[in-house]
Amino acid sequence: MKKNSKLLLVTGGCGFIGSNFIQKVLQSNEYDVVNLDFLTYAGNINNLSSFHNNNSYEFIHGDIGDKFLVKSLLSKYQPDAIINFAAESHVDRSINSPKIFIDTNIVGTFNLLDMTREYWINLNESKKKLFLFLHVSTDEVYGSLATNDLPSKEDSKYCPNSPYAASKASSDHFVRAFNVTYGLPTIITNCSNNYGPYQFPEKLIPLIINNALNGNPLPIYGDGLQIRDWIYVEDHVDAISIALNKGKQGQTYNIGGSNEIKNIDVVQMVCNALDSHKPLANNKSYFDQVKFIKDRPGHDQRYAIDSSKINKEFEWKARVTIESGIDKTVKWYLDNRKWLDEVVSGEYMNWVKSQYN
Ligand code: NAD
Ligand code: TYD
Repeated sequence: MKKNSKLLLVTGGCGFIGSNFIQKVLQSNEYDVVNLDFLTYAGNINNLSSFHNNNSYEFIHGDIGDKFLVKSLLSKYQPDAIINFAAESHVDRSINSPKIFIDTNIVGTFNLLDMTREYWINLNESKKKLFLFLHVSTDEVYGSLATNDLPSKEDSKYCPNSPYAASKASSDHFVRAFNVTYGLPTIITNCSNNYGPYQFPEKLIPLIINNALNGNPLPIYGDGLQIRDWIYVEDHVDAISIALNKGKQGQTYNIGGSNEIKNIDVVQMVCNALDSHKPLANNKSYFDQVKFIKDRPGHDQRYAIDSSKINKEFEWKARVTIESGIDKTVKWYLDNRKWLDEVVSGEYMNWVKSQYN
């Protein structure tokens, strides 16, 4: 390893957003990347298989909560920055089994911060000054908005409602505390709902695509009128790169797609794209497979995020429209049926059975 002058330690890089981020970084040839991932059900080592022989990339199988492993990686690779994607990320799973969310999202992040502080404090002055711990978080920490509420800003009150959101909120607080108390240079990014290639089909958009293609019902919780602000994953990854290269330590940046859409309308758009790229033989629409089911407990009605800070400071804005993003996503899943079929086995089938009966 060591092709480029700077090295990133990325955690959770075999997941959806992390693998999109690493692909972008390695393609830009700016950094070497060490990817620490525990390969939970959501992590897929093959997402980065094209880089396995690249001498700018190294994969390490392990847990961010493993003190000795993290310590030894920091000492061996001497990273210039850490980007923390590693997390349990699915709200419904956090409702069914919250403890792993405490273990990974709170205790794991704390461990990573604690080991990073020990490493950072001993760096030489120039490397210490440039070092950054970037923590990737969610808009769900701000809780549910009413119809007329303004989108959440960086100083909006934290009001998490699900165990997932509470665990991410807690990790954000620890990141902030390590910055204020110990001076560790940190940045937090809070982003809205991502979609795009490599998303595990437990989340709404890939779940709808997978069920539609398999002739299964398309489950919509409650009345389907809940609103999310959807962002194409490439736009999120660009914003993270900007925060990494230009962001100011100690700051939080909110990132959103400015695409507030009701769930039912998202499902309609996905079905329209499927109808045009893979029409059903009987000329019916995939949308006919929609089935309204029992609502999620504590279901947040609306998320919306105000990205004006990162827009004003660094001219970042989401570029991919929802129509073209959904179109690209549907095409990606159609072109990558093998990937989809491989991840929807074993543990996934147990989850579907327990969640959707
Ligand atoms: P994901 O579930 O697809 O991937 C998570 C990755 O973390 C997996 O590769 C998994 O193996 C790994 N991981 C889990 N526990 C680990 C541990 N203890 N040690 C090391 N690795 C571990 O998640 P995602 O959708 O890619 O989300 C990435 C980050 O972005 C998360 O922190 C999430 O909270 C945040 N986020 C996600 C969204 C979204 O819409 N998906 C939006 C905003 C923020
Ligand atoms: P999800 O993709 O799980 O993201 P989040 O809960 O983090 O926003 O869900 C997006 C929205 O879609 C959310 O309002 C719940 C809803 N949803 C369904 O209606 N049916 C489903 O099967 C799933 C997984 C989600």
